[in-house]
Amino acid sequence: MHCSGLLGVLAMVWQVTAGPLPQDGSAPVERRYAANKTRTDAVKSAFQTAWDGYYKYAFPHDSLTPVNNGYSDDRNGWGASAIDAFSTALVMENWEVVNQILKFVPTINFDNTTSEISLFETTIRYLGGLLSAYDLLTGPLKTQAQVEEDSVQAILKQAKRLADNLSFAFSTPSGVPDNIIYFNPSRRANSTRNGLATIGTLVLEWTRLSDLTGSDIYGALAQRGETYLLDPKPALGEPFPGLLGTNVDIKTGQFLDGSGGWVGGDDSFYEYLIKMYQYDPKRFGKYKDRWLTAVNSTIEHLASTSSGKEGLTFLAMFSNTTLRYVSQHLACFDGGNIILGGLLLNDKRYVDFGLDLVYSCHETYTATATGIGPEVFAWQDRDAPSNAANNPPPPSDQADFYERAGFWITSGAYVLRPEVIESYYYAYRATGDPKYQEWAWDAFVNINRTCRVGSGYSSINDVNKPDGGGFSNFQESFWFAEVLKYSYLIHAEEADWQIQPDNSQKFVFNTEAHPVRLAAANYT
Ligand SMILES: *[C@@H]1O[C@H](CO)[C@@H](O)[C@H](O)[C@H]1NC(C)=O
Ligand SMILES: *[C@@H]1O[C@H](CO)[C@@H](O)[C@H](O)[C@H]1NC(C)=O
Ligand SMILES: *[C@@H]1O[C@H](CO)[C@@H](O)[C@H](O)[C@H]1NC(C)=O
Ligand SMILES: *[C@@H]1O[C@H](CO)[C@@H](O)[C@H](O)[C@H]1NC(C)=O
Ligand SMILES: *[C@@H]1O[C@H](CO)[C@@H](O)[C@H](O)[C@H]1NC(C)=O
Ligand SMILES: *[C@@H]1O[C@H](CO)[C@@H](O)[C@H](O)[C@H]1NC(C)=O
Ligand SMILES: *[C@@H]1O[C@H](CO)[C@@H](O)[C@H](O)[C@H]1NC(C)=O
Repeated sequence: MHCSGLLGVLAMVWQVTAGPLPQDGSAPVERRYAANKTRTDAVKSAFQTAWDGYYKYAFPHDSLTPVNNGYSDDRNGWGASAIDAFSTALVMENWEVVNQILKFVPTINFDNTTSEISLFETTIRYLGGLLSAYDLLTGPLKTQAQVEEDSVQAILKQAKRLADNLSFAFSTPSGVPDNIIYFNPSRRANSTRNGLATIGTLVLEWTRLSDLTGSDIYGALAQRGETYLLDPKPALGEPFPGLLGTNVDIKTGQFLDGSGGWVGGDDSFYEYLIKMYQYDPKRFGKYKDRWLTAVNSTIEHLASTSSGKEGLTFLAMFSNTTLRYVSQHLACFDGGNIILGGLLLNDKRYVDFGLDLVYSCHETYTATATGIGPEVFAWQDRDAPSNAANNPPPPSDQADFYERAGFWITSGAYVLRPEVIESYYYAYRATGDPKYQEWAWDAFVNINRTCRVGSGYSSINDVNKPDGGGFSNFQESFWFAEVLKYSYLIHAEEADWQIQPDNSQKFVFNTEAHPVRLAAANYT
């Protein structure tokens, strides 16, 4: 049932008093969450526009190319946008789209594809999307959805079939999976190495599949690969306690370098350490300890203050123990993830540090001509010597921009990424401060204005040109899964999947923003 009418129009306010206890003994902060139907309707309407374009011109292919009303099979041709849109359609209670996807799921041919398969991308988008839909439809949306039990069971069946077909990727000498595999015949690419994020961002989905099917094998495979990351060898692979290199030898499970950060290629390994603890604190206490070690080192070693505009803190990358003052849109999930850890561990220090990072990522949005942040940016560290080889000043053509903005742009594209809005979401749920809703709304309005083209939304070339510098004609599936979901949830009413400061939520968001039910969250 779609809920409309007077109640929905009023701004609903909830009060929550629990949350991290202030360490100084002062009274806990009272949080008030306010839903805004004008805004959730606007985000729903953007979802409908993007879905209609996809459904008309691209379905059942993977992605819409909106400028020429074409399609791309960039994710093996199994309908990536449909599966990535599934959990967003569910939390928006868009039953028409939910039913279109439900009908499609049993028809996906997970036995065949003509292109190479990424274990990581397939896990976070397809497996995560299917498990989330199953968890929502057998949990909080069970009665509203009014769908056939058979079509719900078909979702889990397809998830299991997909994982069965992928699982030989883990059949390596060490158990560290090969990230690239092929079907027909099933064979590994025989890669010699795999990366921190692509090894370390499987464990939530594969463990959930085990817990739902009662078959331990899936979780065991992903957890075995993860053991090499929880106990990294040799010392080169851990230049700061808990902060790891990037490449791992598939034969031995040993690290091959000591370069990394909270950036693409490494990012969601750190994200899943604390999310596994959120999923099941009984089984994944060690993951939490490793997250804490990594975050403590991050605060001590990687936090860097810009020498440009005052008050900006970004996280540096590292090569061994040498820092590089470069970061990414992708890395802007860091604030939200550290806030989440602060809530779970009831420790305000982490929440506050995360809020500083969120503030600084917000500045990467407000400084540009479009009001959207860039793909990659750099800065000069305020405290390191300004003549140090690793601490160069901005290029001269960006000196003025740097003075004003506190960072300079090294890649100006925006590819419909969610991380900045994702972190606003956690900041809002942790504090109840409406400022974060305003930031999320501004970002959504700017993206909607700049990226809307043809039959949908497209990646753009240059966030610092008022018109976005042209379209690259691609609507990523994570536009549906992530940007639209977090943009919606920050203004939406309370629900079991909304993050709660007292940790009473029943779901954890996978790295693709698919809400997965916590191990202990039962529904009858
Ligand atoms: C809801 O959002 C709209 C659009 O930004 C705004 O005009 C309105 O004031 C908001 N309503 C409340 C109650 O905050
Ligand atoms: C897989 O799909 C391709 C392209 O559609 C087709 O040519 C091939 O016969 C299929 N193979 C199997 C084993 O289904
Ligand atoms: C995929 O799994 C199904 C059933 O689990 C099986 O029948 C099929 O042969 C598998 N296909 C591949 C390519 O492994
Ligand atoms: C990987 O090695 C196996 C065993 O030698 C072989 O069967 C397979 O074809 C190789 N994969 C590729 C993509 O060449
Ligand atoms: C992290 O730092 C906090 C605060 O200094 C300390 O209490 C805690 O023991 C540290 N934890 C780990 C795992 O390093
Ligand atoms: C990191 O340290 C290792 C071992 O000391 C060295 O071989 C490697 O060249 C260093 N890498 C960088 C990028 O400095
Ligand atoms: C989003 O863009 C559409 C199409 O340009 C426009 O009609 C709509 O008002 C925009 N939404 C917001 C909230 O700005």
